[in-house]
Formats: sequence, structure tokens, C-alpha cells
Amino acid sequence: MCGIVGYIGDKFAAPFLLDGLTKLEYRGYDSAGIAVFDGKEIFIEKTVGRLDALKDKLKNNLPNGSIGIGHTRWATHGRPSDRNAHPHTDCHGDFVVVHNGIIENYMSLKEELIAKGHVFKSETDTEVVPHLVEEYYQGNFIAAVREVLKRIEGSYSLVFMSKANHDELICAKQDNPLVVGIGEGENFIASDIPAIINRTRSTYILNDGEIAIIKKDSVTITDRNGKVIDKKIFHVSWNAEAAEKGGYEHFMLKEINEQPKAIKDTMRGFIKQIRPAKNNNDERIAQDGSQIIFPELKWDPAFFNNINKIYIVACGTAYHAGLVGKFYIEKLARMLVEVDLASEFRYRDPIIDDKTLTIFISQSGETSDTLAAMKESKQRGAKTLAITNVIGSSLAREADQVLYTIAGPEIAVASTKAYTTQLILMFMLALYMSQLRNTLSTERTRELISLLKKIPSQISETLSDVEPIKTFAQRYGFNEHVFYIGRSLDYDVALEGALKLKEISYIHAEAYAAGELKHGTLALIIEGVPVIALATQKSVYDKTISNIKEVKARDAVVIGIAAEGDTELEKYIDHVIYVPNTDELLIPLLTVVPLQLLAYYAAITRGCDVDKPRNLAKSVTVE
Ligand code: M6R
Repeated sequence: MCGIVGYIGDKFAAPFLLDGLTKLEYRGYDSAGIAVFDGKEIFIEKTVGRLDALKDKLKNNLPNGSIGIGHTRWATHGRPSDRNAHPHTDCHGDFVVVHNGIIENYMSLKEELIAKGHVFKSETDTEVVPHLVEEYYQGNFIAAVREVLKRIEGSYSLVFMSKANHDELICAKQDNPLVVGIGEGENFIASDIPAIINRTRSTYILNDGEIAIIKKDSVTITDRNGKVIDKKIFHVSWNAEAAEKGGYEHFMLKEINEQPKAIKDTMRGFIKQIRPAKNNNDERIAQDGSQIIFPELKWDPAFFNNINKIYIVACGTAYHAGLVGKFYIEKLARMLVEVDLASEFRYRDPIIDDKTLTIFISQSGETSDTLAAMKESKQRGAKTLAITNVIGSSLAREADQVLYTIAGPEIAVASTKAYTTQLILMFMLALYMSQLRNTLSTERTRELISLLKKIPSQISETLSDVEPIKTFAQRYGFNEHVFYIGRSLDYDVALEGALKLKEISYIHAEAYAAGELKHGTLALIIEGVPVIALATQKSVYDKTISNIKEVKARDAVVIGIAAEGDTELEKYIDHVIYVPNTDELLIPLLTVVPLQLLAYYAAITRGCDVDKPRNLAKSVTVE
């Protein structure tokens, strides 16, 4: 996730900018840069790589000047490079901008600006912003910024700097964090509190739609129309470590709570309202209504009709996302999919030819087994698609095509927001394929898309009441064995729930397809053993209830996960956790959340190191 800093005051800006960016390093980044007005010009230095590389470049050339902005970039549009690093400028270097987020309509804006003669230097979405300021500037900086904000769509925290107006910085927020730090004779801007915590603890936390005009002695906050907002100062009482985690005790909990935003960001730009186009030859995607589009996928639409086999290959949590992905593609696009563990795939002589599509899922894009499996599959002639969270990662570079989850850096070893964003991407891919293959009615597509859009707020709802989950974790957190059961998609989610519990709380947890219990595992069910039973899949609901009765009859303690409105399950078991109701295809995105929380609070109960569990690494780069 990009980091932003800004300074205006009596002191030199550059030392604060570099220090602030260092404090934001934990957010993850691939390049960095600063811009400082030196009294005559806006001096810019930026580089791909670590902050040390930037500091090295500035070693004998630190700009003097008391107003500046800085940025660490986590690439979304355009690979990591010097050119794509922020800050970005207009044609003449008069306006400089740093940005965290995604400008969704940047392509059309870029075309418009190029037609007007603007020259672009980077591949980023951000660069349209300073060019737009140049376009609208008529001597009034804030007026130009307001016009720009009317034109851009998407998510952003933005800081604007102007050569002609070097006594102020302007910033704007929409869907990405931005904080103004209030000092004496100086003020600060940051995307996150750790950057400013050793300078000031008095802050304004900006809300969506707010604009701040920051001078060295004043901060004015307005809405988009210029109406002044009387904002309360927020006094930060966190220490530096807590500030990095946004006030959460662990990165894992922070990342669980980031899921609504991560999902929104991942969906952004892929759902389009399409009107029938006269010259569109493909009637299947020319119907009115919501459609899934994947502008990034450069394959001809006919591609998905010509392949005859799909493999999904991944490790760990990403493998579990692949299992759900298989269900989606088979159900919606009616294509046969096999899911393989990357560590097994290439050793089993898989049947691959040039009509095979292999999809590789990896948060980091660096997992050695997944990379090796991709290389093997390319050698055998398959088409390859990577689904990863890291732009420019090895997997992304190696694949024929790439789709990105926009979860932001995942720091906790236990994967949470990567999993749910992988599910969302797999769901949209399956819907996209169904459109191209004409396997789903328009009504069903529309229904699913409208339910899809509700998922972020439904996750927020699930996250709003964690007390019952905490209580279960405290009550059962010292058991040595826990079983997870479910059928169909519930089984796939059960596998992920069990992995979460194992890896961070060290409790022996196993997931079983509920119908399989009687083929062996039932022998392990004795009095008091906790069984987490997922029962959300309508087509197998009655059968799942029968399996739940089987474990209940052996005196297990059963905690059910059900959709709101289910009045049946609570009749048979000890406790039920309800998640909001949605289509049974989408419900894994909701049922996994209490399981993540259960694992988290069980680990806390047992005093485990949640973010860095024993024996595990975030990214497994060895075979
Ligand atoms: O970076 P990747 O998605 O390729 O990582 C794959 C697994 O190592 C990873 O999902 C691992 O299982 C997580 N620690 C699970 O929480």
C-alpha cells in the first residue's frame, strides 16, 4: 500500500519526508520519491527499490526548502520503475502530485489529455492528475484541484503541490487514509499516523470527500464544494508500534478488518454497466445491464471457448481459494477444472497441451513451488494466468496474463485478506467466462453481480460483533483437537478455517467433508470435542444437518456457522454464529470471516505469536 508524507513549515522538509517514509516502510513498497520546492523550482528525486537507494541518491544533494511531499509506491498500474515512482508532474513541472489508490477512469482521461497535447512520462494512472491540474489552473490552485476532483473516479488520497503557490499544500481523500498532523509553525501530512507520531500527536483524520488546505500556520478543511468543516482534533495516544498496526493489536487483526476495502478495491473497474453497442459483434456481452469486464486480459474472447482443460495450481491458503475457484468456474462457466497443490503438480506428469489453461494463485507471487509449476506448465505448452497480489512479482513476470488482487501488502503470516480477494477475483473470472461462453442467463448474471457488490458491507457487518467469537475462543481455545465439517463450498471454507487455526494457535485442526465422517473420522469424535459445522449450502443442507446430528450424538460440542434467517440449525447444536444472507456461491466470503477471527482469538487465548507463528515464513521461496 502506498505511503504518503507532506511537510510545510520553517524547517527543511526533506529530513522529515525521508524519516516519515521510513516509518511507513511496514506498509510495503517497491519505489520511493520526494519533491521539495527549493525556492525556485520543485526538485524531484525518485527511484525504484528501497528507501536506502533514494537516500543514497540524495546523500550529497539533499534539497533545501520548507515545503515538500514524499511517497512510497506499491504498484497497481505500471510496473515498479523509476519512471512510475511518485511524485508525478504535469508537462512543465509546475504541479506535483503523490497518490495512494486507483484512478479508475484514467484511460479515458489520458486519451483526452494526450489529444490536448499533454505529454506523459509514466504508465501510471496517477499521472493524469497533475496534467488535469495544469489543464484547469487559471491562477487559483484550490479551484483547479476542485475541478480535477470532479473529473476523477476511483479511490484516492492525494497531495497536490504547486510551484506558483508554494505556501500551501492541498490534499483530498476518498476511500484511502489521510491524516493531517498539526504542529507549531509547521504542519504535516501522512497516509498513516506512524509517519508523524514523533512530531505531533494532534491530528485531523480526514473523511471521504474532505479537502485540506494546509499552510504552515493553518489547516482549513472543506467539503468538495468549499464549505468549511469544523473538524475535531484527534489526539493520538498510541505508541509507535500500535500506530503501525492502525491501533490493532496485531497485523492479522488489522488485515481481517481491511477485507471490506480490499474486496472493494479488487472489484473496482471490473464491473461495468454496458449499453448495447451497435458495432459490437459479440452479442453475448452486448446485453444491457451489469457485466464483468477484464480489460487486463489480452486474450481474444474466443480463447475461453477454445481451451479444453483448466488447472488451478497453488499452495496453502491460495490452494483453498483455488478449490472455491474450481467450484465457481464449473458452476458458472461449465468448464472442467482440476485443482492441484503446486508442490505435487509438476511431479505427477500432468496432461497438458496448448489447449490447456493453467491458473496460478499466489499472494506473494514468489512461492517457489508455484513458480516451478508455472514454468513446467509453460514448457508443456499451456497458457498461463497468474492471480497475485504483488505487481512485478516473479509469477506476474513469468505468466502470459496476470490479474491482480488489490489487497495491499499482507504482513501477517496467516493469510486473510489475500484469500477473500482471491475468491472475489475467481468469482468475477468465472462470471466473465460464463458471459463469453453463454452459460448463464442475463438475469442470473445481474442477480449475482448485485449481490457481489453487497459483500464488502456484509463483511463489515460480520466484523462488527466479535464478542461471541472471542468467548468461544476463550472457552475452547485450550482443546487439543478441533474438527471442521461442511459440504460443498462449506467444506472448502472449512479447510481454510482449519489451516488458520493450526498455523497460529497450534491446535490440531482437521476439516472433513461432512459426508465423509462416517468413513473413519467419526471414531475421533468423543465427548466435548469441538466441531465447527458450516451449514450454508442449500442443496446439501438436509444432509449436512444429518451429519451434524451424527457428531452431536457422540457428545461433541458443535458450533454452527449459518446464514441469517436459518432457524433450523440452532435446534440441534450448542451455539450458532450467523453471517448475513447472500447467494450460496458468495457466502464463503462471509463464513470465512468468523473462522479467521476464531483462529485469531484462540491464538491470543493461548498466548501465541499471532503475526509470526513458529516454523513459518510469509513467503516460501524454497522447495
Ligand atoms: O504467497 P502465496 O499465496 O503463494 O503463499 C502460499 C502459502 O504459503 C500461504 O497461503 C500460506 O499457506 C499461509 N501462511 C496461510 O495462511
